[in-house]
Amino acid sequence: MNLQGRHFITLLDYKPEEIEYLIALSATLKKQKETGISHKHLPGKNVVLLFQKDSTRTRCAFEVGAFDLGMGATYLGPSGSQMGKKESIKDTARVLGRMYDGIEFRGYLHTDVEQLAEYAGVPVWNGLTDMYHPTQVLADFLTVQEEFGSLKGIKFSYVGDARNNMGNSLMIGCAKLGLNFTAVAPRELWPEKSLIDVCEKLAAESGGSLRFTENPVAGVTGADVVYTDVWVSMGEPKDVWHARIKQLHDYQVDSALMEHTAERAIFLHCLPAFHGMDTEVGTQIAQEFGEEYPRVAQGEMEVTNEVIESARSRVFPEAENRMHTIKAVMLATLGGHYE
Ligand code: CP
Ligand code: NVA
Repeated sequence: MNLQGRHFITLLDYKPEEIEYLIALSATLKKQKETGISHKHLPGKNVVLLFQKDSTRTRCAFEVGAFDLGMGATYLGPSGSQMGKKESIKDTARVLGRMYDGIEFRGYLHTDVEQLAEYAGVPVWNGLTDMYHPTQVLADFLTVQEEFGSLKGIKFSYVGDARNNMGNSLMIGCAKLGLNFTAVAPRELWPEKSLIDVCEKLAAESGGSLRFTENPVAGVTGADVVYTDVWVSMGEPKDVWHARIKQLHDYQVDSALMEHTAERAIFLHCLPAFHGMDTEVGTQIAQEFGEEYPRVAQGEMEVTNEVIESARSRVFPEAENRMHTIKAVMLATLGGHYE
């Protein structure tokens, strides 16, 4: 498998066996890290990490991953570079591509990461756009594989805003790798019809399936994996909170909903999650909307604290897997030597 020189922008660009290879490589790198086997396969290389939006996991995964591979890493945050303000994406790509061996981009417009890829001349990795979050899916699938031993045939229910970057990317990933994907959301929050059509074809090829339902209980009954994400994503205006709570409060993942899943079911969330009063935004939303919508009165939104802290929850191993999987993407696309 040779992925040297490839961008990693959306899973749509990758064949199922290439995605499987990246997950397998992640597992190898994880084992090497755990057993203290050095894997500095890319000495002398440098990567730049461009963030128009905030990040904890993705930024740290790229930084630690780069260091573990022997590379240097530069972080450019939402402020502090010329990009987008005094300099176009196209010019930024042509400058950074001459200094760095790879570029990570987290931002708003998916067309921006595509433009970076077009002009950089080096691999560009999508660290999240409004449309897709492909590196997250690799970590999610590594976590599922660790739990169940394989991915094919896994019943994967995504509950919440199913047309955001996570809903889109998980649907693509499931369709490519033969999982049975269910989007559990009000109809107006289902993915775009055009993307569903593409994924239906992919699922037919892989032996997977897609299902869409507005009924939370029906949507998670028998599920092996229940996944949710924030109701309002980065970059959306604050004033959508009210409407989104109204649309999604019945889709909150709580212990009662988890009762309907398979006995072996796990809970996943890309994080960050609102599951209590210990965040600024969680507290603010609880104060503003808690009276009208009692489910959010304690700052619990897409998931309750009880579920996040339950024995079924794998959210922290999942977060750790961001690092192993992102490392695999950098190693494979930058073409280091490895076994
Ligand atoms: N899951 C994820 O992408 O987290 P960050 O926003 O912290 O990078
Ligand atoms: N849908 C979320 C994912 C965060 C990792 C967002 O875009 O904010």
